[in-house]
Amino acid sequence: MSHLDDLFGQTGRVAFVTGASSGLGIHAAKALAKTGAAVALVARREDRLNEVARELEAIGTIACVIPGDVTDRTAMEQAFDTAESELGGVDILLHGAGIARLKRAERHTRADWDDVLAVDLNSSFELSQIFAERFRARDDADAGRIIYLSSVMGTVGNSVHRAVSYQAAKHGVQGLMKQLAIEWAGHDITVNSIAPSYFPTEMTVDPATGEIPPAMHERMQLFTPMRRTGRPEEIETAVAFLASRASTYVTGTTVPVDGGWTAW
Ligand SMILES: NC(=O)c1ccc[n+]([C@@H]2O[C@H](COP(=O)([O-])OP(=O)(O)OC[C@H]3O[C@@H](n4cnc5c(N)ncnc54)[C@H](OP(=O)(O)O)[C@@H]3O)[C@@H](O)[C@H]2O)c1
Repeated sequence: MSHLDDLFGQTGRVAFVTGASSGLGIHAAKALAKTGAAVALVARREDRLNEVARELEAIGTIACVIPGDVTDRTAMEQAFDTAESELGGVDILLHGAGIARLKRAERHTRADWDDVLAVDLNSSFELSQIFAERFRARDDADAGRIIYLSSVMGTVGNSVHRAVSYQAAKHGVQGLMKQLAIEWAGHDITVNSIAPSYFPTEMTVDPATGEIPPAMHERMQLFTPMRRTGRPEEIETAVAFLASRASTYVTGTTVPVDGGWTAW
């Protein structure tokens, strides 16, 4: 085994990846597959998950498709049951599912607020609880990893979009991440987040054109020192690092993948 395999290889480990039907979640799943993990793919759109599973199998790993809604705790308990029976005990939780509502604060309804917090924040907590309880019950477990796809919007206000529920939820994820890192440090579980700035995904592109609307794109680039949006594959190395043995002493922190957005 090479030194890099020793540090980053995930052969024999199992990852549970939510948001795996689209965008950054697909690349997170690919990063884990490329390093050798078996991957449970979770989101609501089964057809999309099947496509991703085929891509992962072409990389040479095992993938298991588990359709489900991350806001349904019972469904997520069952999803973990399925992942465990198909692939084995889960070592890595990568929570990538997320939504945003782009509306001024004064137009945000209570339903907008609740929907965003349910997916972006509440499910982060509930999935982490489910993962940690099962991980701790295993004697054979190596090191547990929880990784959230958070956002630069978890630490600063948003100069491009009006999305108060998203800001609040992602700030909540950052607090959750730090507190769980402290509480679970003694259980051999690290808890970290990745903070992307802007990437072209279903969340940010206009479905009619498949591109970020030009006026928005201009603002995104203006606020990014590197003067461009991210390429979705640029998320992969951060995922591989935080999931690996190369990050055994890294917990309670955030890896920005943001072209310098938070460096101003
Ligand atoms: N794109 C960016 O610029 C950017 C920047 C910073 C942070 N992020 C964060 O990165 C993560 C991924 O975002 P993305 O850009 O890749 O967005 P995306 O392309 O819209 O993907 C969102 C994913 O979340 C899943 N999802 C949404 N609601 C769900 C639910 N109730 N249950 C299960 N799955 C659900 C979707 O799957 P289904 O619809 O199939 O369920 C999809 O796989 C999010 O947390 C987002 O906040 C994105």
